[in-house]
Amino acid sequence: SEKMHEKVRANFVEFDGVFLPEEYEKIAADVDAFEVHDSDVWVCSFQKSGTTWTQEMVWGICHELNFETAKAPINERFPFLEFSGIITTARVAMRDNNTSVPSWVLNSVEFCENLPSPRYIKCHLPFNLLPRQIRTGEKKPKIVYVSRNPKDVCISFYHHSKLLEGYCGNFEEFCELFLGDYVFYAPYWNHVNGYWDRSNMENLLLLRFEDMKMDLSSVIRRTAKFLGKNMSSDEVKLLADHLSFAKMKNNTSVNKKTTIEYINNMKVFGEQRSEGEFIRNGNVGQWKEAMSERMVNRFDEWIAKYSKH
Ligand code: A3P
Repeated sequence: SEKMHEKVRANFVEFDGVFLPEEYEKIAADVDAFEVHDSDVWVCSFQKSGTTWTQEMVWGICHELNFETAKAPINERFPFLEFSGIITTARVAMRDNNTSVPSWVLNSVEFCENLPSPRYIKCHLPFNLLPRQIRTGEKKPKIVYVSRNPKDVCISFYHHSKLLEGYCGNFEEFCELFLGDYVFYAPYWNHVNGYWDRSNMENLLLLRFEDMKMDLSSVIRRTAKFLGKNMSSDEVKLLADHLSFAKMKNNTSVNKKTTIEYINNMKVFGEQRSEGEFIRNGNVGQWKEAMSERMVNRFDEWIAKYSKH
């Protein structure tokens, strides 16, 4: 495990206490200086907390349920701000194997800057690394932040790392990395607390994955109200149906199937194949089956120590 920590650490740097890949250095200043618009809608989260689900919900609400507009790949209509700065093995290979790599991969910050307004932007940065204009309150885009039980985040992140980042350690080792803040965007609690501490910011909406699972319609209504949109109960129902796990799993605009195929075709991780799906399980409380009692106790201690809200 010490070895794993060292190996992971070798290609990472800290920015304002946040664990990020070295590549981030190239875009850090551009992210900081990013010109924010008051009309922007941002979806922010710690990875694996239900980002894609939230993005698709926000998109549907803001486009009056015009699902035609939702057929374009989500990375193009709702791009990932700092994507080019967190280029890791998979993305380096995409860049090196394909001469026509889209600019949302290679220069995601510029791509976001040039989107037509209103812009929809996904971002995994903690509040302390958001563009300066947001941090200072100079610009007030609508920000939807989604969080999830960290035990389930850890499990989802483990599968994500194997599927899209070429991670080849086991689950126990991954839990150690997670608890030790050796994963992208860690520390986890700096992330969650950084947004939840600002719960009275009028342009910030805080959502929970578990609430979306329990009562998606009421989360849709709450989000629509926040975004200044009126929805009839039929519309809410229609959107909830579009956002169901089964529909999202088969929706090629959001399920990353083509990326996974690409990784396997290009042998991005050598002989290690990417097995599985991005929209994978989606359940609440997966840790009850996937985590050892010892690990659950470790998590509980860590949660008791750092969680504030
Ligand atoms: P699991 O890996 O636990 O299945 P993110 O978009 O932040 O990367 O989060 C991905 C997680 O959200 C995955 O969790 C994925 O299955 C889950 N997810 C995506 N769409 C969902 C939906 N419609 N219903 C429930 N969970 C969903």
